[in-house]
Amino acid sequence: MRCCRIIVNSTVSSPSGRLVVLPQQPVDRNILGRAIMAHIEELAAISESRTGLTRVFLSDEHRRTNAVVAAWMEAAGMNSRIDAVGNIIGRYEGMVPGAPALMLGSHLDTVRDAGKYDGMLGVVTAIACVAALHRAGKRMPFAIEVIGFGDEEGVRFGATMLGSKAAAGCFTADLLALQDSDGRSMADGLRAFGLDPDQVGMAARSRGELLAYVELHIEQGPVLEARGVPVGCVSAIVGASRLGVTVTGMAGHAGTVPMAARADALVAAAQAVLAVEQRCLSEPGVVGTVGTMTVAPGAINVIPGSARFSVDIRSVEDRQRRQAVDDLRARFAEIAKARGVGIDNTVLHELPSVSCASWLQDQIRAAIVAEDITPLDLASGAGHDGMAMVAIVDIGMIFLRCAGGISHHPAEAITAEDAAIGARVLSRFIENFVPEAAHP
Ligand code: HGY
Ligand code: MN
Ligand code: MN
Repeated sequence: MRCCRIIVNSTVSSPSGRLVVLPQQPVDRNILGRAIMAHIEELAAISESRTGLTRVFLSDEHRRTNAVVAAWMEAAGMNSRIDAVGNIIGRYEGMVPGAPALMLGSHLDTVRDAGKYDGMLGVVTAIACVAALHRAGKRMPFAIEVIGFGDEEGVRFGATMLGSKAAAGCFTADLLALQDSDGRSMADGLRAFGLDPDQVGMAARSRGELLAYVELHIEQGPVLEARGVPVGCVSAIVGASRLGVTVTGMAGHAGTVPMAARADALVAAAQAVLAVEQRCLSEPGVVGTVGTMTVAPGAINVIPGSARFSVDIRSVEDRQRRQAVDDLRARFAEIAKARGVGIDNTVLHELPSVSCASWLQDQIRAAIVAEDITPLDLASGAGHDGMAMVAIVDIGMIFLRCAGGISHHPAEAITAEDAAIGARVLSRFIENFVPEAAHP
């Protein structure tokens, strides 16, 4: 790998007019990396919580983040706008205004008590790459758009990728009725954000507008670190299903209802949660997670009358994922019957596995090689906005190494050196990008 420091000599003319070469301090190519890290820190401070980073869709924190990112986009020579679903979009025109665009970016929302880099790294790095073009007064034969999706994690309303689904024209009106934990619908959230729920369809992009969607993202896994490489080329993204499950039993007095006479919703839910683990442990390649659980009425001396929990099932094989979901729905029905409770479940979100376009993988690998790094292909166990965007445009992803593969956790971390490498690889990709139509 090439050294990260290069010596830049500057020349000055001496009184005799002779040019004198003054060796300067090595120019630290990680200045770019540190600038990216500084922007990441600025976004990490915009949180609904005083302890930890939590930023959800259509919140005041989302609004403030859009404003900060819009300013960075404008400073990088882009025009910025907020689309009909709250995504922030910057556009850097090519040599000919109005040309189709290479879209870069990622998401700006987070999970609860999140890491700083999941999503934000892709937006901040893409802006840094455009800013470098702008400083150099350089225009490409295509436009560049940088998008900051307002919802990828799906923390507030349960369904995920609401921003990219709208941009890809896959948003369905039923999503507007989804409610957050305070009972406010997504439609309410859009109105409070200053948007019109009836206009969400205006966020949809058409196929001809975009040449490709390419996202730089932390790996959120241990492979790159274990192999000692800072970046990798993503081959595919695993498919995912999200279920909302509601168990309805009978609340009662904790001291007077005999054990055999109880319809305890929480115990039934606990058995269902264990069933998720057992089913997924039984089949390699399938993972399942119950990440949320609420219990009502939630008093120490009351038998729980209801329990609501989420189920997240993934597999790179769609058939395996769908079979696991079917098996679990059948198992929930058995538990309900045996315990005399009701168990209802709805599919909140489902997206199939997607492959990254081979022509984009080729160009990403070439950019990695140009940085003297051996390209490594890897699949993504995490979901990404490309799963929605693939409906209208080919997708590519560049992964960046993260410490211990930790993500969705405050300990999520990258180095400024790797941030600089990620930016250099993305810059090379942009500068050498050849749209598929132009391929020989
Ligand atoms: O859940 C995921 O895989 C992504 O981080 N939203
Ligand atoms: Mn995430
Ligand atoms: Mn992410």
